[in-house]
Amino acid sequence: MKALILSGGHGTRLRPLTYSQQKQLIPVANKPVLFYAIEDVIEAGIHDIGIIVGPNKEQVIEAVKSVDWEANIEFIYQGEPLGIAHAIKVAQYWIRDSDFVVYLGDNILREGIVKHLEHFKKGNFDASILLCEVPNPQRFGVAELSEDGKTIKRLIEKPKVPPSNLALVGIYFFKPIVFEAISHLKPSWRGELEITEAIQWLIDHGYRVGWTKVENWWKDTGKPEDILDANRLILDDIKKDIKVKTKAKIIGRVIVEEGTEIDENTVIKGPAIIGKNCKLRNAYIGPYTSIGDNCVIENTEIEDSVILEGTEIKCGGRIVESLIGRNVKILEQSNHPIGRRLVVGDNSQIVL
Ligand code: TTP
Repeated sequence: MKALILSGGHGTRLRPLTYSQQKQLIPVANKPVLFYAIEDVIEAGIHDIGIIVGPNKEQVIEAVKSVDWEANIEFIYQGEPLGIAHAIKVAQYWIRDSDFVVYLGDNILREGIVKHLEHFKKGNFDASILLCEVPNPQRFGVAELSEDGKTIKRLIEKPKVPPSNLALVGIYFFKPIVFEAISHLKPSWRGELEITEAIQWLIDHGYRVGWTKVENWWKDTGKPEDILDANRLILDDIKKDIKVKTKAKIIGRVIVEEGTEIDENTVIKGPAIIGKNCKLRNAYIGPYTSIGDNCVIENTEIEDSVILEGTEIKCGGRIVESLIGRNVKILEQSNHPIGRRLVVGDNSQIVL
């Protein structure tokens, strides 16, 4: 069994962050989203991992290599991101005749993939997919089940009238027959080779496509609000771990990493995580906040937000439900004329 984790794509819905950073490297609770996928795959006993890299391949390779994983990791360059099925096709030379799991590197699954892999193996399926009940199936790829409920009859992209509330999760198990399915695909209206069409080809040609239900939470971190949501869900599970000495008032489950200085006028209310070598002075860090390494927060309240490394915030007032990139400066106006001075990149969003 091998694993193919997809860490390519342009991530346009996460601009401007994705102009300079591959989206799967955006941290949730101070850990790149991609690392959750790698951990799940290793936990399931898979130690041959191929990572599809695309536009910012050097960044992904460097980040993954900075950790000593219990796995052999191969980086596979996709070239232009022409779809999930295209990425799988590009990796065929590495997968060869193995069964494999495809894990989209921007998906996070609370329960991991152990039980889903077992079902795929035991049922001797040609493919097996994960489905999750959602309140708004119109926004997803949705499955119609067979009469006995054991296999999939049809997959429909963003249906107006959904046949079920079971959305397709970004984790798929395949036998190598999927390469044959992909070889018959034509680019869709959006110019991509679609994985849903490859799975439909398998069903239409009499191959058995099984499924398992996701019982715990699943998050596709494609948009800024999804990153904030995933951050809340992960922080809900953390345990208190303060690695520095401080006289600050710390309430609830808070992680503070080494080298961080927090003065006595600061209050932190968990769940929250503060990275390494930060400086917090006269600040309030509220629930569901993740602050990356080397950040400075002064005279400001921050709540329910994700702040990436190297950022300096000294603006007074309160910042909520925000996703702020690396090495950003948000400072207070001191000279006249008083007004809002902004230097903001393309596709940014500011709510004042
Ligand atoms: P998407 O989120 O569907 O596509 P995207 O990354 O291009 O984002 P956007 O729509 O905002 O522009 O991709 C799902 C996952 O698959 C994601 O982890 C990126 C990855 N991917 C590839 O590795 N190669 C590809 O060709 C595509 C389309 C996606």
